[in-house]
Parts: sequence; structure tokens; C-alpha cells
Amino acid sequence: MAPSLTHDVLILGAGLAGLRAAVELSHRTQGRVNIGIVSKVQLMRAHSVCAEGGTAAVLREDEGDSIALHAWDSVKGSDFLADQDVVWRFCRAMPREIRLLDHWGVPWTRDEHGRIAQRPFGGHSYPRATLAADKTGFFEMQALYDQLLRYRTFRRYDELFVTDILVEDGRFVALAGIDALSGETVALQARALLIASGGAGTLYGFTTYSETVTGDGLAMAFRAGLPLEDMEFLQFHPTGLVPSGILMTEACRGEGGHLKNNTGERFMQRYAASKMELAPRDMVSRAEMTEILEGRGFPGPDGKDYLHLDLTHLGAERINTRLPLIREVCMKFIGLDPIEQPIPIRPVAHYSMGGIQADINGRTPVPNVWAAGEAACLSLHGANRLGSNSTAECLVWGGVCGGDIARALPTLDPPAPLSAKAWSMHQAHLRRIVERRGPENLYALRRELRTLMDNRAGVFRTREDLAWALDAIRDLRRRASHAPVADTSTVYNSNLFQAFELENLVDLAEVTVMGALAREESRGAHARRDFPVRDDEQWLKHTLARSVEGGAPVLDYAPVTIDTWLPVERKY
Ligand code: FUM
Repeated sequence: MAPSLTHDVLILGAGLAGLRAAVELSHRTQGRVNIGIVSKVQLMRAHSVCAEGGTAAVLREDEGDSIALHAWDSVKGSDFLADQDVVWRFCRAMPREIRLLDHWGVPWTRDEHGRIAQRPFGGHSYPRATLAADKTGFFEMQALYDQLLRYRTFRRYDELFVTDILVEDGRFVALAGIDALSGETVALQARALLIASGGAGTLYGFTTYSETVTGDGLAMAFRAGLPLEDMEFLQFHPTGLVPSGILMTEACRGEGGHLKNNTGERFMQRYAASKMELAPRDMVSRAEMTEILEGRGFPGPDGKDYLHLDLTHLGAERINTRLPLIREVCMKFIGLDPIEQPIPIRPVAHYSMGGIQADINGRTPVPNVWAAGEAACLSLHGANRLGSNSTAECLVWGGVCGGDIARALPTLDPPAPLSAKAWSMHQAHLRRIVERRGPENLYALRRELRTLMDNRAGVFRTREDLAWALDAIRDLRRRASHAPVADTSTVYNSNLFQAFELENLVDLAEVTVMGALAREESRGAHARRDFPVRDDEQWLKHTLARSVEGGAPVLDYAPVTIDTWLPVERKY
């Protein structure tokens, strides 16, 4: 058995939520806690560095914004599936997070009075996306890491590919994985685990996610017995650059950019006249797909027909100061200067509203496991997240979980020595993967999975497509067991890691499609052609998916917390 390395707390994932939790834990315990931060990539390659447009917070109560307005916008945006107690806590906590990050060195963009600037984002009735140009996530990550360096309390396990979350007798006992550099298997133990390893958007081929974000934490948690909640709600962001899918931040529209079809019409006039391009993402993405399907798009490569995101009227000064990354990406990736030409875009898989079921303190049903950030479903976002509420969630629940774990630690037992049974489970998993033989190809299967998710479980869904997808996913799982790992090297064996990732993606695809097939209504990002209307009578409830040893997952449902606003028709 591999010797295990022991910490007080393990944090799986080194993005915004993980770092914010580590800072809070270190601060609350005056540095007396011993933290292991585990990531399959280098810390500053966590996907959070790609967050662009802003972080939502109410900073202008004196001018008309309010916590209640932010809460209402978020609940309405969620199509009333958000738990409202969670939303209130979130909106109340955010202003402090922005000020903390200001103290910790985030170079927030300033307005003409020297105040922290904010810009409009979709579905918000006040400009509250707080920005550092269009590189907000990068600067937030940098500031949090700098802050963490004040403490000598943590050890980084970069490039450690975790394959299993080991739970015994209902408690977390260890993370087991492979050190990419040495190829050695490693066991890490702790009294508490925080899962903050991001979402599952690379289930789709056309996506804004970094290729590394393969939902590993979600899939491992699921297999370890933790329920996944609301996985059918996958957000499609309206502006993915064609053909790569790179995020063209919503800030492009927040700064005044227009969406146009092939006649030059600002088509949002016909879908959400009061909000136009700044309607919530689910609505804008559906409007775009309708334009494309009805022939008002431009022909694009590989069937990726597109529309125009037009910034040309904003002028060079505004684009260079507020959207410098967007300009750079367009020039480098497609040789187009958005100062002069409109950008080709279409809806793109961007964010998992669902995740590991967690309560308002980030606690999961396993008593020494917490979840935060996109990996968690607290249900803050319900069926549709508002832009700029995601980095904000990472900050709030990184902090909440850090604080809650600090309080809980004295009551949690040190981990018992890793049992032979737990370790042999991990070893058997490893053997199942490396001993695969057969004619299939891992990379081809991964492409196939992502294409079928694009085509059958996208912006618009039907029973027929979803049922087809579910069969295909199950068949793909069977075929993946005949897809050998060809590379036998021990050092940085990305071929081996891809095999684990494919297994994780297949498990998550199955749960996503099962939830979508079962939910016979349209709500937020889940738009069923065959059930086009929201059905509060039957479906105002959260989906919970549980894994079953040797069988298909089972679904059941949980109530939504509604303490302030009853559902009404969502008009913009
Ligand atoms: O468009 C964006 O900048 C994305 C922000 C978000 O997903 O919150």
C-alpha cells in the first residue's frame, strides 16, 4: 500500500473557490491548520483564470441598487428553481468579498470618480458586474494566491491526478491518485475534504471550458455515494467564438455590443425587447438558435452557423481599455479585429448549474466532506445562472466552507490508517483501466461523446433526441472498456489520464441526459421542444441522481426553498 500523506484538510481543486477556502481556513485558525491543495494542473492554470467579464455585487445602494434587487434578479433568472435562502445569503455576502479583494490587491477597474467600476450584465437590473478589464478571474486568482502565501500552512500537490475519493463507513478517508511527474500512486488523507474542482462543460464539444475541466470531482463524488443535483441544467453562453468556442465575454454586450443576424437586424428586439442583448443567457441562447435554425445565421465551418457580435460602434478606446483580451483573442485566433469587424459567435456550453448536493454551508451528506464553487449545487443558480454570479459564488462559498470547516475541525477525528479494503478499491479501479484491451480509441470516443451531447442535449431538447443520447452514452461506456491505454510510460502519462477522464465524462453525461429526459417541462437552460412550458405543478423541484453499484443511476427529487417570491411568468 502507498504510504499516505496526512493533512488536517484537503482541498480538491485550486481555482477561486479552493483558494478562497484555503485563505479563510488559514486566517480563522491563525495558520494552525495544515492544508493540502490538490490539482491536476499547475495552480495558475485552474480554469478560474479564464473568467473574464466580472463578479456580481451590490456596491451602489446609495444610487438605487439593493441586495433585494440582486436577490430578485437571481431568483427570476433561475426560473424560480434557486433556493431563496441561499440566494439571500449570497447577495448579502458579496459586497464584503469585493472589498476584501480590493484590499488584497485586485486591480479593479475604476470609474471617472475613482470608485470601483461596475458594468451591466444579462438579467441584472443594475450594473453590478465588478471588473478588472476582461481578465477578472486571473486577477482574483493572483490576489488570493498572494494572500495565501502569507501563511505557511499549505502544501500544493500540483499535477496530481486524483482517480478516487475513498469513503468508508459513511466518512471520507482518502484521495487516491497518480502523481503525473513520477507516475506513482499516492494516497492523501485528512479530517475534512473540500471538493472545489469545477464543473462538467467539456461534456460538450463546443465549449468555453479549458480542456482540463472534465468533471472529475463530480464523477468521483458520485461514485463514492454523494448525490448530484440538477445536472440537466447546463448553461449555454450566447457568445462562443466560432470555430473554437472561446468565451467572448458577456461584457462585450455589457459595454454596448449588439447581436445581429444575417440581415443586420438586432434580433433580440423580437425576443426580449426590454433587455435586448442583456436578457438572461438562456433566453439569448434560445433566440440565437432560433435565428440560426430559421436560416438567419451565417454559414459556418462544420455546421457551426453563426451570428454577429458587433462591437464596431464602441470605438477603439473603449475596446482597448475594457475588452483588451477579447480583441487579442480575436486577432490571434481568427485574424479579425473587433474594432473593425463583427465577431462570429454562437451559443456555447459554459457552466454546470448542477453539481454535488450541498447545503447552505457547503456541507454534503457525507459529514466530513464539503463542496464549493461550480462543483457544488447549493442551489444558488437554479435552472439558469446570471452572468457574473459564478466567480461571486466561488468567493462566498469558498469563504463559507473555509469558515465552517475551521469550526468543525475540532470535532472531526483524525483519519484512521487507510484500510486495505479502501486501497484495494483504488487499485482495482486502476487495473480496470490499464488492463483494457480491444479495438476502440479513447480519443475518438471522447469526440463522439461530446458531439452527441452537442447534437442531442443542446439548447433545444426532445424526448427522441435524449432517449437516443442515453442509449448511445451507455453503449459508449461499454465500448470504452475496449479502449486500451497505449502509453505505458510512468512520466506524465496523459493517455492514462484521458482514460479516467472519459470514464468521468460518460458517468456525468448519463446523469445529465437522464435528468433532462425525465424533466418534462421547459425551465431555464432546459428547453424541451415537446414540453415548451414551465410546469410548476409537477416540476418545481430539484433532481437528485444517486449512483447504484453495478446498475443505472436512480433519480429522485427534493423541494425548492421558496421563502420570499412565488414563481411568476418570466418576462423581460
Ligand atoms: O461572459 C462572461 O464574462 C462570463 C461570466 C460568467 O460566466 O459569469
